[in-house]
Order: sequence, then structure tokens, then C-alpha cells
Amino acid sequence: MDKDELLCELILHVIKRQCQHDFTLYALPVLQKRIQRFIETQGLASHETLLLALIKGDKKLEYDLVQALTVHYTHFFRNKEYFQLFYSEILPHFAHTANFRLWSIGCSSGEEVYSYAMLIALRNQLAEAALIGTDLNANQIDIASAGVYPLNKLEELESGFKSLALPANSSLLSLIDSQQKSTFTFCEAIRQSCHFSTHDMTRDASLGAVHVISCRNTLMYFSEEKQQEVINQLILPSLVPGGYVITGEAENLEPWSDTFNLKRLHNGINIYHYHA
Ligand SMILES: C[S@@+](CC[C@H](N)C(=O)[O-])C[C@H]1O[C@@H](n2cnc3c(N)ncnc32)[C@H](O)[C@@H]1O
Repeated sequence: MDKDELLCELILHVIKRQCQHDFTLYALPVLQKRIQRFIETQGLASHETLLLALIKGDKKLEYDLVQALTVHYTHFFRNKEYFQLFYSEILPHFAHTANFRLWSIGCSSGEEVYSYAMLIALRNQLAEAALIGTDLNANQIDIASAGVYPLNKLEELESGFKSLALPANSSLLSLIDSQQKSTFTFCEAIRQSCHFSTHDMTRDASLGAVHVISCRNTLMYFSEEKQQEVINQLILPSLVPGGYVITGEAENLEPWSDTFNLKRLHNGINIYHYHA
């Protein structure tokens, strides 16, 4: 282990001790690059300078580093086949469910949550639905809560929407409010159904009575042991029996499906039905 690698580990332990966010559970190489970039953008002299400032209790630097350590890439209808199955196979099960709840854990800036909300609206199931998006990163949660995106994101949204096999009369027009010149947002009904807050999946509490949990492209940053702990202690206790877990393309829960009573819906797609 070289000196900077060791210092990165120390930095992560200081963060864990001082603000309880446990990045020691994440894959180190990704975090090393992020710490290096953080040192450069903050104009700090070295890893030692950062470490010392954290130990001395620089709360602003500590907060900014926690934000910088998380990877928050996302887009509307990311991996469209997952949204297709959500629309055509999952939502019909809940057509008559009062208080349908979907929880997106690690929702980043909200695109995933609004993508689900649009499909729920197209099935006329929005009035009974609540979508909850949570993320460790407070800056991303602010963007998600505002629900206002630049116009180039509308192109991304439209192209994802068009790529789905939806009934011929499905239109984005009633779901989007694009009155502004350079931004757009969602219709009132969608915005009122989507709720966002900060939450650390490694240490904060589970929710109750959730029908669908989407935890995509987030679990993969953790060690296997931590992934199993999150499934066992956060995801499954939050789900209703017969609920669904949706993970990302690189997050195959199949090896643990018997242990956790999860049944994959289709080969090669990480959507699981939970039999409690
Ligand atoms: C790559 S993004 C995935 C966004 C979205 N789910 C998607 O698939 O497009 C990963 C998100 O997980 C969040 N994250 C990382 N660690 C977390 C934790 N311990 N608790 C909650 N969110 C976390 C990051 O802040 C980031 O926004």
C-alpha cells in the first residue's frame, strides 16, 4: 500500500468517526480518485493537509468531501428494459392497491423517481401513489426536490420515453410543464407524489409498507458483506410481502435469492419478487 493510499484510508476513518458516514465499506480505488480530485479542486497542498484539516474539525471541508465522495451519475429511464418491465409487469399487480409506495434508495438528482412517476401516471395509478427518493448526498436531494431540469435533459427524457413500448396514445405532454425557456419541470400531480430526503442506507432506518424498492447502481459500490447487510436489514424489512426489488444491471442478487426469498422475474434482468 503506498503512502497516499494509506492516507486515503485514514481520511475515510476520520470521516467515519466524525460524521458516521462509513465510506470504508466502499471500493477503495474509486474513492482514491475522488479524494485526489477533491484535493485539487479545493486547492489543498496534499493528502496530509486534508487529513489534518479534518482532524482539526473543519466541518465545511468535511461536508464538501462527503458530497464529493459519492458518484451520482444518472439519467431518465436509465436501462429502459427495467422501466418497461416496471410498466408492463409490476404496476398491473398494484392497480387496486391503496397507498402504493415506491422507494428509490440512492436516487441521486431524482431522474429515476420521476421516470417511475411518469409511468405510474400513464397507468392512472398516481392518485394512490407515493414515491420516496432518498440519497446520502444533500446537494442531489436539493436538485431532486426542486424537480427543475435543464432543457437538454428534456431531450434525454423524450428519447427514453419514445424507446419504451407504451400504448399508442401515451404522451408526455400532460406530464411535463415546459413553460420556461431553459428549464422544464413535471406536472403538479407528479411533483406532489414525489418526496425526497437525505438518508444513509448504511446506517439510517428502514421504511415500512413499501411495495417496490429501487436501489440501482448504488449497492455495487459496497463490499459483498455490506450489500447483504443492506438487503437484510434495510431493504427486506421495508418491503410488503409480494413486493419487488429492482437493482442495477451490475447488481445481481441471484446468488442470495434463496437466502432472501427473492425470485428473479426474468433471466439477465435484476428485478426480484419478494416472497416473505
Ligand atoms: C450512481 S448514482 C445512482 C442513481 C440512480 N439510482 C441510477 O441508477 O441512475 C448512486 C447514488 O447513490 C448515492 N449513495 C452512495 N452511498 C449512499 C448511501 N450510503 N446511502 C444513500 N445513498 C448513497 C450517491 O450519493 C449517488 O447519488
